[in-house]
Amino acid sequence: MHHLSLLSLAVLAGVSTASPSGCGKDIPSKFPSPGESKTLKLPGSDREYQLFIPANYDQTKPTALYFSFHGASRDMHEEESLSQFSNPLFNPNGIAIYPNSKNGYWLSNPSANTSRPNDLDFTNDLLIHMEEKLCIDTSRVYAAGKSNGGGFTGVIACNATVGSRFAAFAAVSGAWYNTDDIPGVGPCAPAKREEGYPFLEFHGTIDTTAPIDGNTKEHPKLPVIDILEGWAERNGCGAGAKWAKNETVFQQPLVKHATWNCAGKTDIVQHYREGENGHCWPSTVGNDDYERLASQCPLGKYVFNATEYIFDFFGQYQLNK
Ligand SMILES: *[C@@H]1O[C@H](CO)[C@@H](O)[C@H](O)[C@H]1NC(C)=O
Ligand SMILES: *[C@@H]1O[C@H](CO)[C@@H](O)[C@H](O)[C@H]1NC(C)=O
Ligand SMILES: *[C@@H]1O[C@H](CO)[C@@H](O)[C@H](O)[C@H]1NC(C)=O
Ligand SMILES: *[C@@H]1O[C@H](CO)[C@@H](O)[C@H](O)[C@H]1NC(C)=O
Repeated sequence: MHHLSLLSLAVLAGVSTASPSGCGKDIPSKFPSPGESKTLKLPGSDREYQLFIPANYDQTKPTALYFSFHGASRDMHEEESLSQFSNPLFNPNGIAIYPNSKNGYWLSNPSANTSRPNDLDFTNDLLIHMEEKLCIDTSRVYAAGKSNGGGFTGVIACNATVGSRFAAFAAVSGAWYNTDDIPGVGPCAPAKREEGYPFLEFHGTIDTTAPIDGNTKEHPKLPVIDILEGWAERNGCGAGAKWAKNETVFQQPLVKHATWNCAGKTDIVQHYREGENGHCWPSTVGNDDYERLASQCPLGKYVFNATEYIFDFFGQYQLNK
């Protein structure tokens, strides 16, 4: 049968040819083999990313996709080692993707390159590309990041076009700037949706890079509580709504887990407050952060794996499609 007649049949049968889907297609030869990672370039652009495909990838089975954005002046390779999203211990079944920034900074940091195509365009285009080439479950696409990469997950969530395609968001030691005046970002304006915007933030109490209570430098960082309350409000809690609970999950060092219930959604906004931890991605075995930032992360490792908590959190949410 000719392509044209196949296409007409599809149209007659009411099958949408507009919605791209990589389901049923072989993994492109340039992509990594299942169980491996590889550095790739987004076609038609100069932007790079690191892609991981799980060992059990099945081209007929819609698969979750986890984005992991690196911190300021770091890169996709460091992020893969830090967040461990390619580690089957945490992520046995999902695809992981580590986009690379243009110049070390993501849109939200004042040093980011704001010219179009910007980081939001890139994220959107990269997601479209993944959905065309791999069998992505479009209801289970998630964004996480470290520091500036965490702040950028907030920028994604705030953008009606791009944020709507992500089911949930997580930031580790988020660097939170006022992004209202950044070209291509603007005030936070997510699209209204029934599922809400599940949002999880981790922060060390002795973080001197992105202090938990903010700072008053030339480009001030905002207090984390403002960010949490902002997402609580956007999820249907009132302005300045107080957390519903704030439980001690570890005594030594003291770790508090605070959650907000908004518009009937229990624990839709969550926060881990990490005593005796600085600007370091919590890991029980340590990582690059604990070596580079040893002076503000004196324990050298931590009492939980943030990555485990992130996957547990993401696992509770998907988009209604
Ligand atoms: C900023 O990004 C644009 C578009 O991606 C690129 O063409 C330009 O070279 C970048 N500018 C700098 C100073 O790196
Ligand atoms: C949201 O992101 C899209 C894709 O990058 C972009 O075209 C649009 O301008 C952004 N919206 C706002 C309000 O900044
Ligand atoms: C939770 O409790 C701690 C005190 O143990 C407090 O410092 C913090 O502000 C509370 N709320 C949040 C959201 O962390
Ligand atoms: C934390 O993750 C590491 C791998 O990075 C693993 O070896 C360790 O067992 C995990 N710890 C816990 C408590 O699950």
